[in-house]
Amino acid sequence: MDRKITVFKGDGIGPEITDAVLEILNAAGAGLKYEIYRVGNQEYLDNGALIPDAAFASFERTKVLLKSPITTPVGKGFRSLNVTLREKYDLYANIRPARSNSAVKTPFTDVDIVVFRENTEDLYVGKEERIDEDTVWATKIITRKASERIIRDAFAYAVAHGRRTVTCVHKANILKMSDGMFLDIFHQISAEYPQIAANDRIVDNVCMQLVMNPGQFDVMVMPNLYGDIVSDLTSGLIGGLGLLPSSNLGSEYAMFEAVHGSAPDIAGKGIANPTALLWSACMMLEYLGKDSCAARIRKAVDEVLADAAVTTPDIHGHGNTESYKNAVIAHLV
Ligand code: NAI
Repeated sequence: MDRKITVFKGDGIGPEITDAVLEILNAAGAGLKYEIYRVGNQEYLDNGALIPDAAFASFERTKVLLKSPITTPVGKGFRSLNVTLREKYDLYANIRPARSNSAVKTPFTDVDIVVFRENTEDLYVGKEERIDEDTVWATKIITRKASERIIRDAFAYAVAHGRRTVTCVHKANILKMSDGMFLDIFHQISAEYPQIAANDRIVDNVCMQLVMNPGQFDVMVMPNLYGDIVSDLTSGLIGGLGLLPSSNLGSEYAMFEAVHGSAPDIAGKGIANPTALLWSACMMLEYLGKDSCAARIRKAVDEVLADAAVTTPDIHGHGNTESYKNAVIAHLV
């Protein structure tokens, strides 16, 4: 029987890339049944809720969500729906794999980095307080419980996937208590995994080293804010945001989404790259135990990425979303 999953079509390029990905999943015989909901700005304007109650209820039933990007107002307006979803369903582990693809030309050929970003606390708790007219405080929260589980997951992943090293990224030289505790916990847990090398780097240094010599990094684990920034950097090393997928995992729920946003600058032009959402869907298939289907899609994507006539302009292709989707489906067949 087909496995039911929930799908959120968001804003901007969200609906375009979601349609392409669902068509590809169907062509691959993924054996999925979709409960599809529109969420985000337009849904709010039309019906008064950013995420309709029925959409939340669907995710609570299926426990698996494929989500496309949602626009979040900058500096004002509602709180990020992404942050809300991660908190509400305790999706604490944000896993963002960036790997060089020989078909996409960048200065680097040896990037194979998996970022583990803590997803529920740090500055993203959104606690800001106006002290006076010219002063605002923002609260950074780091807890032992959240730090332990993301660090343990990073080491467990390294063992399960034959990885060599886990690097902890922090700013414990300045934030001695909060990042200092995260770093202490990292070293405590690393002792339980003697087969995996463990090291740590200060976040500013890590950014420089990533653009000079990314091949030295393997699995990386860090608090929320650094994970957000460093993973966008890793996407730049492999050809851009159109190529960076992610999973957001908790103990009960799982959400899969591209790392990029709603890309309002290209929305409606038919040129959005669906690869990041498609690879997120592959991570979802693997999570559901459908490894062979995921492998077939990944192989088709590798073949299509080598054909600039059909790929999208963000990776220097001469095609569009439609030509890319059709080519992937043709390779699957
Ligand atoms: P963005 O990721 O939407 O776009 C950054 C740049 O990358 C743009 O030039 C865009 O055209 C390009 N790009 C992104 N995805 C692409 C794709 N699939 N194909 C081709 N080019 C692509 O970041 P931006 O502009 O800072 O944010 C736009 C909105 O998205 C904001 O409201 C932001 O809050 C929201 N956002 C939502 C996320 C989510 O729902 N998970 C994540 C990040 C941002």
